[in-house]
Amino acid sequence: TRITGVRLTTVNTPRHNSITCGHVMVELLTDTDLVGLGEMSDLQHLPRFHFDIPELAATLEDLLIGLDPLQTTEVERRLEANFPQAGYIYDKSRAIKCGVDIAVWDLAAKVLGLPLYQLLGGQVRDSVPIAYPVFRQQSEADVERNLTMVDRRLDEGFEFFRVYVGRDLALDERFLREARDRFGDRLTIKSLDFSNLLDAKSACSFAERVADVGYGLVEAPAPNHDIRGLVYARDRLHVPISEHVYSNRWALDLVAADAVDVFNVSVIAIGGITPARRIFAIAEAAEKTCLIGTTQELSIGTAAAAHVAMAMPAATLPSDPVGPLLYTRDVVREPVRYEKGRLRVPEGHGLGMELDPDLLAASAGPLTWRHTTADAVVDRQQVTP
Ligand code: LMR
Ligand code: MG
Repeated sequence: TRITGVRLTTVNTPRHNSITCGHVMVELLTDTDLVGLGEMSDLQHLPRFHFDIPELAATLEDLLIGLDPLQTTEVERRLEANFPQAGYIYDKSRAIKCGVDIAVWDLAAKVLGLPLYQLLGGQVRDSVPIAYPVFRQQSEADVERNLTMVDRRLDEGFEFFRVYVGRDLALDERFLREARDRFGDRLTIKSLDFSNLLDAKSACSFAERVADVGYGLVEAPAPNHDIRGLVYARDRLHVPISEHVYSNRWALDLVAADAVDVFNVSVIAIGGITPARRIFAIAEAAEKTCLIGTTQELSIGTAAAAHVAMAMPAATLPSDPVGPLLYTRDVVREPVRYEKGRLRVPEGHGLGMELDPDLLAASAGPLTWRHTTADAVVDRQQVTP
């Protein structure tokens, strides 16, 4: 089997009561009837621009046409040479690389007639517990809305939640206390996620102020790339510290400084399955535990995360990909499934996903940044007027 073409389709999917996110669906065409599926997920992160799709498709065809999909090493070499790691979590190069890399793995597994996790070394678990996100409250009304949402998800069997904090600390504290009062031990707060919004001292002061509420770990409690801030937080707080890993060098620096307990590894932020495996290898060697992070993907991107989560022994913590429950629509025949708060790995060859042409057409349209603001984008919330 040889790659003969690259088809990119831009889609826009609204989230329930929230922003609309653009994605690029990737189809790798071949000289057989097999097609590799990938996804450049959730391009609605700053910086506020989109790339040129026909130009990108032509570039990817230059790089990939003629390759055998089992040459995952050569694909990675070419992608890395053309879309280098920028060391920024929402760098658009990583989304491009990720979309193509997922499609190549999907295709390789389909050629062999195997589920993708088999190519990654086989299953070490059959599902992963998911921590449902509570997006950062921007107004009083958000607190009640989030409490209602938690109530509903608890009823569905979700036990773990992760709470974004750091913009309006008084609202954050109110949410945390009311959630604990209302739901008691039914609710496990997996993490407080500061998203690099605060300096380490401010983040730690808040984490200490709400320590009695109870939470499992603290994520990103220092500005981007502030390794000394992370070390400070790790010394000062009594819970594990986690941080996103978006380059090889950053992973090595985190290990060298012993700055975190937990690596947040997302297929998207590191630019695909191939580079994600490298980060898991570093984590294992350094005896760090991992969770699978997310940008909130549609089903194809979430399926990739599920296969990785099934196959990586170090991914032992509740993980984050929950996009298919946040978005109001998808582009596949059978979306990924969540059961009792756990993400199941799809069945079938490759990712186990099939595009639905009608659904794809229904969401297709140019990527756009109209109708949004920078804060709404950072907080993943619609601005309340
Ligand atoms: C999302 O899109 O919801 C996430 O990428 C948010 C985040 O930055 O963790
Ligand atoms: Mg995102």
